[in-house]
Amino acid sequence: MLFAVISLGLLLLALFLFLRRLGWGLLPIIWIEFVQQPVRNLLMGDTKEQRILRHVQQHAKPGDPQSILDAIDTYCSEKEWAMNVGASKGEILDAVIREYKPLLVLELGAYCGYSATRIARLLPPGGRLLTMEMNPDYAAITRQMLSLAGLQDQVTILIGASQDLIPQLKTKYDVDTLDMVFLDHWKDRYLPDTRLLEECGLLRKGTVLLADNVIVPGAPDFLEYVRGSTKFECTHYSSYLEYRETVDGLEKALYKGPSPMKS
Ligand SMILES: C[S@@+](CC[C@H](N)C(=O)[O-])C[C@H]1O[C@@H](n2cnc3c(N)ncnc32)[C@H](O)[C@@H]1O
Repeated sequence: MLFAVISLGLLLLALFLFLRRLGWGLLPIIWIEFVQQPVRNLLMGDTKEQRILRHVQQHAKPGDPQSILDAIDTYCSEKEWAMNVGASKGEILDAVIREYKPLLVLELGAYCGYSATRIARLLPPGGRLLTMEMNPDYAAITRQMLSLAGLQDQVTILIGASQDLIPQLKTKYDVDTLDMVFLDHWKDRYLPDTRLLEECGLLRKGTVLLADNVIVPGAPDFLEYVRGSTKFECTHYSSYLEYRETVDGLEKALYKGPSPMKS
């Protein structure tokens, strides 16, 4: 009995410290993700991601990427929160794509294909997006979302973990170097995957890394690395967490090359 009370106390303390670090604004999301949603899935016999896709199929115009983004945003702000980059940070993502006009973009973390749709619709002629997603169910939703948007030919979905796929990009996927990388997978992978991209020779002078959620949930080791390195020139874009008023942000880290000239 004493053991159970101590364990529960430690669990509550861990939860308290976790929320204090991330911000109390995340409490409703934790409730939705870990309590409300599993119950809903059980009752409805489907998943939130399938419900998002169904809503899009019913409300968006096929071949019109903007109407697909609008339908996802409406559903996720009014019905069920989901971890898409969302409209406010999405506009920053759009602005970076418009500024750099990347021909080859790598996305880490596709989920339902929201950001893939955002990116692919703005690629210059001949542009290509490779998106990595380790959850096959999410990858299947992304595939259907991109087909509905008419963007399937510009996007290759790689199913698997980024740490396994990145080393195969040159040999298996005909990649020389990347023009842009959108990091939006699990936050503890931002730093190791950035290092892996460097080690694999996939970054060139001028490659743009854009990382989502660097404030919430946060990627402190990644921020410390890129901001402290002479190899990167960083810019922070403050915004809001998707479908919430909690402050979040994107970090742009422009790769300057492996051995920048000392001034
Ligand atoms: C925040 S969601 C991506 C949201 C998406 N970029 C958007 O804005 O529409 C994160 C996704 O990354 C995937 N993921 C997490 N770690 C991964 C890894 N190491 N390799 C591939 N996918 C990963 C998860 O399964 C999840 O679908």
